[in-house]
Amino acid sequence: MDTQSLSRSFLTYFNSKPQFIVRAPGRVNLIGEHTDYNDGFVLPMAIDRAVWMALSPRVDSLVRVRSLDLKADSAFELNSLVRGEGWAEYIKGVAFELQQAGHTLHGFDAVMTGDVPRGAGLSSSAAVELTAARAFAAVSNLEWNATQMAILAQKAENDWVGVKCGIMDQMASSASREGFALFLDCRSLEIQHAPLPENASIVILDTSTRRGLVDSAYNQRRSQCESAARWFGVKALRDVSIEEFKRKTKTEKLDEIILKRARHIVTENARVLEAVQVMKSGNIKRLGELFNSSHASLRDDFEVTNEALNIMVECANEQQSCFGARMTGAGFGGCAVALVDKNRVQEFVNAVSAAYRQRSGLEASVYICKASEGANVTQH
Ligand code: GLA
Repeated sequence: MDTQSLSRSFLTYFNSKPQFIVRAPGRVNLIGEHTDYNDGFVLPMAIDRAVWMALSPRVDSLVRVRSLDLKADSAFELNSLVRGEGWAEYIKGVAFELQQAGHTLHGFDAVMTGDVPRGAGLSSSAAVELTAARAFAAVSNLEWNATQMAILAQKAENDWVGVKCGIMDQMASSASREGFALFLDCRSLEIQHAPLPENASIVILDTSTRRGLVDSAYNQRRSQCESAARWFGVKALRDVSIEEFKRKTKTEKLDEIILKRARHIVTENARVLEAVQVMKSGNIKRLGELFNSSHASLRDDFEVTNEALNIMVECANEQQSCFGARMTGAGFGGCAVALVDKNRVQEFVNAVSAAYRQRSGLEASVYICKASEGANVTQH
């Protein structure tokens, strides 16, 4: 992103230079899918695509934001927040939660832009939320605590916007470190910055399919997981080991669908823990195998892939340069992520795009990505 042109846009709209530039990235999840709302483990990384705001504080409590991408304006009063519809709800929701948490906020003028594809499963909404949190923190002089801000942003999404997501996306956008993946325990919210394999590139493969009704399917998976936890007599599926899963499902009867959902979560948590270990030891081959078994589990047990995702993962795995691939994010459409030999990444991109086009009739978008820093601010 060219921050100078963002500053110039601010100047055009507000007749002065901005005091701050804030940014928060989208994310790709390497492994640990649908485990966050089961108190489990995830391993996302912030990507080098983000939402940006140039802004200056106001003396009053008005917030005015110009979205350069949507060519739209929004303005609201911090003292009388009213729920509406559209992109500004993410910003309002964050303002609401910050105030609920006892912070006194100042208004601001801002221009906003971004390059996280919307609706692709790369967490553009978490990026907007964390950008807003950074903006309010900058103009209101709030101490920045990445974890606390992620929790508030998630609350904004859950309660103000009305989407019952887990904590992964907001934590990835908030607490990631450049060059590392973020290993997160979604129960304790403890984080570790996990080194990425040196000889591999992380490639995002957008199937260009988007499915409606994701929310209801997502909520259904959540309640199936809760039923499973009750059956095992635990607080969340995080508390069930593979051994315990095998023992209990062998001797007692569990509904087949609930059993499959639980098996995905229990095995996926184990895969995340192993992935962190193999990344440390540099065993890319094993990491790729874990990607592949995660995809199979999401396809067969959790049933959140679609045909396009399955085709994309197959196309990726047919390339010799690919160590492994899987769907990433909530599923039902959106993106896959592949682990690819760094020296052959361009050849991989060309071959997969062609194979995917041929087999699905669709055009893929491909992003070779770098692990970037979580939400940050610079003063101007
Ligand atoms: C969406 C949600 C996350 C997480 C993933 C699935 O991205 O926002 O909280 O549950 O799906 O892993």
